[in-house]
Amino acid sequence: MRVFVTGLVLALGLAGLAHAEGDPKAGQSKTAVCAGCHGADGNSAVPNFPKLAGQGEKYLIKQIKDIKNGDRPVVEMTGMTEGLSDQDIADIAAYFASQPATVGKADPELVKAGEKLYRAGNMAKGIPACTGCHNPAGAGNAPAGFPKLGGQHGQYIEAQLKKFRSGERSNDGDSRMMRDIAANMSDAEIKALASYISGLY
Ligand code: HEC
Ligand code: HEC
Repeated sequence: MRVFVTGLVLALGLAGLAHAEGDPKAGQSKTAVCAGCHGADGNSAVPNFPKLAGQGEKYLIKQIKDIKNGDRPVVEMTGMTEGLSDQDIADIAAYFASQPATVGKADPELVKAGEKLYRAGNMAKGIPACTGCHNPAGAGNAPAGFPKLGGQHGQYIEAQLKKFRSGERSNDGDSRMMRDIAANMSDAEIKALASYISGLY
């Protein structure tokens, strides 16, 4: 009997996990500790803290789990993710995904170069267009887990592209999608892209 009950509970538990739907209302109450850096509504005021507002749910869940298990070390968040259950993570992601995001302003001097790279890439250097995965308006592709970029702080975008280039950020998986793309970028190209993206919506 005991074995049967344990098996039943396990099966129910697993089914529960597979369907762990995020509840934005419950998520909001779990984000007090996040607000100091990312903003209460996910629109952070400080440019090295990423905006989470309007970000895709699937991408947010993956990042929080990657940060929790060390695949994406974020020293600033030390001790903040250990206590989060899968349900907490799903709820928090649902909350930030549901919040409207603010947009920044691109540097007019960098817009042309940034837009060209974003929309057409640089074939000669093996840099693909960003539009295919991140959407022409920077909205990302939520079901695929490709992050929204539009309106994100330029300083944060620049730092991420440099971290992908150096390999310091490696949680793009075995496909190495972003590491391989960033590997071919110059500092100037990264700066232009980051500025363009900050004003994109
Ligand atoms: C002390 C500041 C701080 C606090 C508090 C904080 N974070 Fe972060 N968070 C950061 C920094 C800094 C980064 C980006 C690090 C980098 O450059 O890769 C980050 C990155 C992230 C990312 C990745 C975003 C992206 O676009 O890839 C997510 C998701 C995230 N944090 C969620 C949370 C959640 C959820 C909480 C609350 C449980 C939280 N953070 C609390 C500083 C903080
Ligand atoms: C083939 C699809 C693909 C293409 C093309 C692509 N990306 Fe990405 N990008 C991804 C994926 C997938 C991730 C998330 C990786 C992860 O899970 O951490 C990502 C993540 C990023 C991030 C980190 C976002 C954040 O919130 O931390 C930046 C910045 C970025 N891409 C910029 C670009 C730029 C700029 C281009 C064009 C030069 C580009 N990407 C082209 C798939 C792509």
